Amino acid sequence: MATVAFKLSLLVVLLNYTCLCYGSSPRLQIGYYKGKCPNNTDVEKIIKNSIRAQFRRNFAVVPQLLRLQFHDCAVRGCDASIFLDGDTTEKKAPPNLTVKGFDIIDKAKSAVEEHCPGVVSCADILIMAAREAVVLGGGRYFNVMTGRRDGLSSILSEAANLLPPAGISVDDSIALFANLGINVQDMVTLIGSHTVGFAHCSTFKDRLFNFKNTGKADPTMNHVLLNSLKHMCPKNSTKDFIVNLDRNTRSVISVDNSFFKEIQQKKGVLGIDQEIDLDIRTSGMVQKLASNNTFFNEQFAVALVKLGAVNILLEPLGEIRKSCRSIN
Ligand code: HEM
Repeated sequence: MATVAFKLSLLVVLLNYTCLCYGSSPRLQIGYYKGKCPNNTDVEKIIKNSIRAQFRRNFAVVPQLLRLQFHDCAVRGCDASIFLDGDTTEKKAPPNLTVKGFDIIDKAKSAVEEHCPGVVSCADILIMAAREAVVLGGGRYFNVMTGRRDGLSSILSEAANLLPPAGISVDDSIALFANLGINVQDMVTLIGSHTVGFAHCSTFKDRLFNFKNTGKADPTMNHVLLNSLKHMCPKNSTKDFIVNLDRNTRSVISVDNSFFKEIQQKKGVLGIDQEIDLDIRTSGMVQKLASNNTFFNEQFAVALVKLGAVNILLEPLGEIRKSCRSIN
C-alpha cells in the first residue's frame, strides 16, 4: 500500500514538472561563467578555494555536499530549491532534517558574490562544490557544466514524497531514478556515494531488531556487522546515534569503490545499500564497480554529471538569487 502511494505521489509531482523540462541540457556549458564576471574572475577557482578551506576544518564537507546535490536534484531538478528557508519549504521535509551543509554553500556564495555579484546561481555553486567534494575525497576531477538558474519555489510535500526512505525497494528506486532520467547503472553508481558519511540508527534499526515485522534481524546482514550495529544502536535507546555508511574503517572519508566491496560482504548498512548487491538487475554493476576503482571513479563522475542535468532551469526561467536562502 505504502509502495503504491509512494509511486503515485512520485508520478503526480513529476507530471507537474514536465513544463519545466523544455529547456534541456544543450545550453548547459562547460565554463559557462568564463568572461561573465568583472576582471575575468575565475568562478570555479573561487568555489574550489572556499570548499577547500572549509574541508580543512571539517572532513564532513565531502558527504554533506554529495547528499545535498542528490536531495536538490531529486526534487524539482537541480534548481537550489533545497536552500530556500521557510516553514513549508523542502528543508522542512523529514528526509531533509538530517541534511547538512547549507552553511558551506552560503560561504561559497558569499565568496563568489564578493568578486562577481548577481551572476552565479546557487544551483551551479552546489554542482561545482560537489565536484570539489569528490576531488577532496580522493576521487577523480571532472568537468561540470554550468548555466543553471535558481528556482522560485520549494515545497515541503514534494520533498517528503520524492526523497527515498532507507528501506526503499530496488523496484521503487529504479522507478524513482528513471523518472529523473537516470538509468539503473548510474543509479547503482550514485548510491556508491554512501562510500562516505553517516546514517542515523533510526534509518536502519528495523534491520537489526524487527526486519519486515518478523521480530528478527535481516538475515542477509553479515553477523559481525549485525552485532556491532546492535551495540552502537541499542534497541531501547532514546538517542539516535550515527554510524559510518562505509564499513571499511580505512576508507570512511574516501570517495572510492570500497562501499561496493563492503556490500558484497553483506556489510551494507541501509536496506537499499544491501539490496543492490542482492538484486539481479543491479548486482552486475555492483560487481564491476567493486572490482575496479578506476572504473568506479570514471562512472561516478559520469553519473554525477547526469544527476546535475536533471530538470534544470535555463534563462529566462528562474533567477540568480542574491542569497541562496531566499528568492530575490
Ligand atoms: C535510493 C537511493 C538512496 C537512499 C534510499 C538514500 C538514503 C540515505 C539515508 C537514509 C542516509 C542517512 C541519513 C542520516 O541518517 O542522516 C543517507 C546518507 C547519505 N546519502 Fe543517500 N540515499 C540514496 C541515494 C543517494 C545518492 C544518489 C547520493 C549522492 C549522489 C547520496 C548521498 C548520501 C551521502 C553522501 C550520505 C551521508 C551524508 C552525511 O554523512 O552527512 N545518497 N542516504
